[in-house]
Amino acid sequence: MTIPAYKNPALPVAERIEDLLSRMTLEEKAGQLNQWYNLGPDQYEQVRSGEIGSGLLANSSTAGNNRQERVFAKGINEIQKIAVTESRLGIPLIFGRDVIHGYRTVAPIPLGMAATWSPELIEAANTIAAKEARADGIHWGFSPMLDIARDPRWGRVAEGFGEDPFLVGQLAAGAVRGFQGNDTDAIPQQFPADRIVACAKHFVGYSAAEGGRDYNTTEITLHTLHNIYLPPFKAAIQSGCATVMSAFHDIGGIPLSAHRYLLGDVLKEQWGFAGFIVSDWGAVGELINHGVAADDSHAAELACNAGVDMDMSTMVYLKNLPDLVRAGKVSEARLNDAVGRVLRIKFAVGLFENPYADPDASQAVHLLPESLATIRQLAANSMVLLKNNGVLPLSSDAITLCLSGPLADQRQALFGCWTPDGQEEEVTTLKEAIAGRLGPETRLHYCELTDDAIKLARASDVLILAIGESAGRSGEDNCTTTIELPAGQEALVEAARCMEIPIVVVVFGGRPLNLTRVTDWADAVLFAWHPGITGGLGVADILFGDVNPSGRLPITFPRSTGQIPLYYNHPPTGRPMVANSRRHSRYVDSLDSPLFPFGFGLSYTTFEYGNLRTSPASEVPEISVTVEVTNTGNRAGTTVAQCYVRDSVASVARPVRELKGFERVHLQAGETKTILFRLGPEALSYLDDNGNEVLEPGRFQVWVGGDSNAGLGTEFEITSDGSID
Ligand code: BGC
Repeated sequence: MTIPAYKNPALPVAERIEDLLSRMTLEEKAGQLNQWYNLGPDQYEQVRSGEIGSGLLANSSTAGNNRQERVFAKGINEIQKIAVTESRLGIPLIFGRDVIHGYRTVAPIPLGMAATWSPELIEAANTIAAKEARADGIHWGFSPMLDIARDPRWGRVAEGFGEDPFLVGQLAAGAVRGFQGNDTDAIPQQFPADRIVACAKHFVGYSAAEGGRDYNTTEITLHTLHNIYLPPFKAAIQSGCATVMSAFHDIGGIPLSAHRYLLGDVLKEQWGFAGFIVSDWGAVGELINHGVAADDSHAAELACNAGVDMDMSTMVYLKNLPDLVRAGKVSEARLNDAVGRVLRIKFAVGLFENPYADPDASQAVHLLPESLATIRQLAANSMVLLKNNGVLPLSSDAITLCLSGPLADQRQALFGCWTPDGQEEEVTTLKEAIAGRLGPETRLHYCELTDDAIKLARASDVLILAIGESAGRSGEDNCTTTIELPAGQEALVEAARCMEIPIVVVVFGGRPLNLTRVTDWADAVLFAWHPGITGGLGVADILFGDVNPSGRLPITFPRSTGQIPLYYNHPPTGRPMVANSRRHSRYVDSLDSPLFPFGFGLSYTTFEYGNLRTSPASEVPEISVTVEVTNTGNRAGTTVAQCYVRDSVASVARPVRELKGFERVHLQAGETKTILFRLGPEALSYLDDNGNEVLEPGRFQVWVGGDSNAGLGTEFEITSDGSID
């Protein structure tokens, strides 16, 4: 008996897809585009008849499994077996899950990971997450989230990499490589067996929700879309990201699930994206709520024609696409295109050859000591030292510490949002971590700040206060009207001042918080994000100086909620901010500047930048920027050298500064290194409203330094023949 071409692994994937498409009914095709959640016995019949193409593991008891037993793979295998052996064509299901920051080995939230400014560390974290998830039978993770964060009221800033398109794009590439294990600009023919498919989301502009309120409407100009919101997605696609999730919201009245220009023209045509687009949860059906679709059938027609390939959790594709094709409202070519895209990824994952997971594999892969060590390193490197008057690092000999604050002994708060596979009891709290690090002569009092505690604290050398947000206060659907600290926490820090001992404040959080007064009152402030399973240990590593802090803010910290939106790469305006000057863009009741600028972070040593030079590189117009960085303190440390550019005169107002390069530089005490940034046409251009690069001759400014206020700058000129002066 000859096997059908699509089952023959020796044939090219394109041929296998073509063969399979030629055998499928319209109903089976629609089935491939239908993703349903928490598949279990209730869905067996639908899987058997080819009506479901993908499973979404939405909670911890999916597919009949139970969280404690950790046997996802068993449930997945059961239902996969029905798809493979009992459906007419035997097409395997692809299972997706929200693998957002780590899996069982929970990593810091993405905003914290971004503070490392290290694509390599993020790649390492996602490699661990991919291996753990794949061992549980998961093929596809719904991250990285690449929404540019300009409004910290929006709870989902926790899930992304911050406010800068260039930084987010570079980190996205690391995240995609970690998940997929490939380093290519094409959708891979085959994913390694221990990796998962990445999903860049939420395409695009979702974070511009008015008022910072989740799912809300947005107004984004084409200029801002092309220059700010789209570039990180392009970077992910160029790194081979195999899927994209379209977002819930509308831009100027056009919901993304029906946005032909963005999904079709930009993503698929201009960028040549060959993977598939999955809708966000229920978003195709929600076209009715948006008021652009009359009913389910109309919603399916709009979304499919716009370019959404897979429908997450509404069944409207399954129920309507066959009739829409028969009625000529959706072409069969478009249906085949969507199905072909989904099948291409299924082939790439190797599902036709290896549809099943090994139920015993988890144990060998989850929570490995080397994984925990990597995630601890990542956590420590993600923490941003915002203030230090010399109290840190703590000495571990002969001192008495007092630890207090609502988050000092919390486990869940260290996880942050989206940790369906993390297990709280596996977290080391800050209290446990500090207790484990004490020297023989050190003492630790742990207390609530009551009257008794005040006595204890008074008898101590340093008071450490752990404050900030609980895990559930950021993430999806967790928006706030204010970025003030949760009730009572500021009062706690203020009260602690009366004890007249040095105060170290450790803040956990999923968003920039208003730390104006706390920073004033405390002797040291460490922003630790939600740092994951080893986060308590990471904080202790920093407090005791085992790790010299190197985290840098990937997002601006405003002085107050009223300053929002506040981001460093804003246009100059006709009346730029000038301190103490009237009739300039400013507030009368606040300083204009942020509390901490984008890129900011302190170290236990100091760095100096000097000798900034620019010179034409071999290729015109490309410019080399070199700078010398010196560690001027007395201990080794890492700084993040940041290179910013401004196009002084252009046809459109260009931002006051834009990040165009960065590098983590490790220096011994007294050591100097020369750092090189190469700025090619891409770095010196802006994108017009069609997404085309425009490079205009004229003067450019460039700065290099330790944050977005870097003072060391110079100028260069691109002449009209494209050369550099
Ligand atoms: C979120 C997505 C997520 C999806 C699946 C949606 O509510 O917006 O980010 O991947 O659910 O759980």
